[in-house]
Amino acid sequence: MTTRDYLTIDDFDVNGKTILVRVDLNTPMDTEGNILDDMRIKSHIPTIKDLEDAKVVLMAHQSRAGKKDFTTMKPHSMVMSQYLGKDVKYVDDIFGTYARSSISSMENGDVILLENVRFYSEESIERSAKDHTGTHMVRKLSPLVDIFLNDAFAVSHRSHLSIMGFTETLPSGAGRVMEKEISSLDRGIKGGERPCIFVLGGAKVDDSLKVAENVLVNGGADRVLVTGVVANVMLAAAGVDIGPVNLDFIESQGYKEQITRAKQVLDRFNGKIGIPQDVAFNDGGERVEVQVSELPDGNLPINDIGLETIVAFCEEIKNAKTVVLNGPAGLSEVEPFALGTHEIIRAAINSEYSIAGGGHISAEIRNLGFEDKFSHLSTGGGACIDYLAGEDLPGIEALKAAASRYRLNR
Ligand code: 3PG
Ligand code: MG
Repeated sequence: MTTRDYLTIDDFDVNGKTILVRVDLNTPMDTEGNILDDMRIKSHIPTIKDLEDAKVVLMAHQSRAGKKDFTTMKPHSMVMSQYLGKDVKYVDDIFGTYARSSISSMENGDVILLENVRFYSEESIERSAKDHTGTHMVRKLSPLVDIFLNDAFAVSHRSHLSIMGFTETLPSGAGRVMEKEISSLDRGIKGGERPCIFVLGGAKVDDSLKVAENVLVNGGADRVLVTGVVANVMLAAAGVDIGPVNLDFIESQGYKEQITRAKQVLDRFNGKIGIPQDVAFNDGGERVEVQVSELPDGNLPINDIGLETIVAFCEEIKNAKTVVLNGPAGLSEVEPFALGTHEIIRAAINSEYSIAGGGHISAEIRNLGFEDKFSHLSTGGGACIDYLAGEDLPGIEALKAAASRYRLNR
C-alpha cells in the first residue's frame, strides 16, 4: 500500500477487472499517416504489462481538430501491438454501441484502443471533474468499467473530459508513466542535489519566464540559464538591440509584453540568471558568431547561442549536480544551429540528476542516442513545464481528490 496522495495500480486488485486507462499517444505523424516518433506509445507499455490479467481499455487523443495529423488511432494500435507482443484491437468508436459491446465482450488479457477521444468535441472543453461527470461519455462508459487510471501525464495540464470525468465515478489512480513523471519531476524540483540549474530554451517564452520566477522564488534552482527565443527576450530586456527581425519574431508570437516581464525577472534575480554573451546569426544558412556587445546593424535572425556562451553554460552545467533542460537552445532541426542544444545535452548527461522535457529537445536527445543517459526524459511538453513551474495540474489534482474519497469510503 502506498501512502502517496494519489492511488496507483498497486492499491487495486486489478486481476479480472475492466480498467479504463487514459494514455497520451499524441505523436508526430506525416501526411501519409505514418508515425514519426513512438516515444509516447512505448512509454505506456509498462503500465499495460502490469495489467496483464485485466481487461484493458485504452483511451487517447491524436492532435487537435483542424490540424493535418488529427486522425484515427489505428496506426498507434499497430505500433503498440508490436511493442506489447500481442494484439491491441483498434475500435473505431469512443462510447457508442460498438465501443460498449467491444468492452463487454473482452476477456482477461485483452487490450483495446478506442478511437481518438477528441473526435468527440465535448472532450476538449475545460471543466471541473464534477462538471464532466454528467456527460454522455462518462455515463455510458462508467458502468462497464471497474477502475480508471490516468497515465496521460502529458495532457494532465488540461482539464479535459477524459482526464477529469471518470475520477468522480470510478475508483481512480495513476498509471506507471504518471507515477514516474511525478516522482522524477519532484526530485528535480524539491529534493535535487545542489547546485541545481534550469536551462530554459525553446519558444514558449511565457511558460519559461513563469518557471524561472517560480524556481528562483521557491529556491528550487540556484541558477537559471536562458537560451533559444527566451534568451532573445532576455537580451532585449537587458537593453541589447537584437535587431528588427528578432524583435518581429517575438512580437509575432505574441510575446512583446514578455520583454517587460523579463526585465522585472532580471532585476529581481540579478546574478541568478545567465544570459548569452554571444549569439549565432543565420547568414544565408551560415553560422556567424557575434558578441552581444557588438551586434551589427544588419537584420539577421539569431538562431543559436554563441560559442563562448556554449562553453560558459556547459561549464556551469558540468559543475551542477541537478540539471533540468526544457526547450532547445536554437534552431536545433537545422544542422549548424543545433550546436548549442547538442553541447548542452552532452554537458547535462554528466550531472548526477538530469531531466529533460519538451518534444524538440527530447527528439535531439534521441538523435544523439542519449535517451538512457538522462535520469528522466519527460513525456510532457506543456505539462512538464507547468509542473516544474510549481503549478497544480488538474489531472493530478483530480486523482488526489479521488484517492481521498476512496480512502474515506473503505
Ligand atoms: C501534448 O502533445 O503536449 C499533449 O498530448 C497535449 O496535447 P495538446 O497540446 O494538443 O492539448
Ligand atoms: Mg503540445
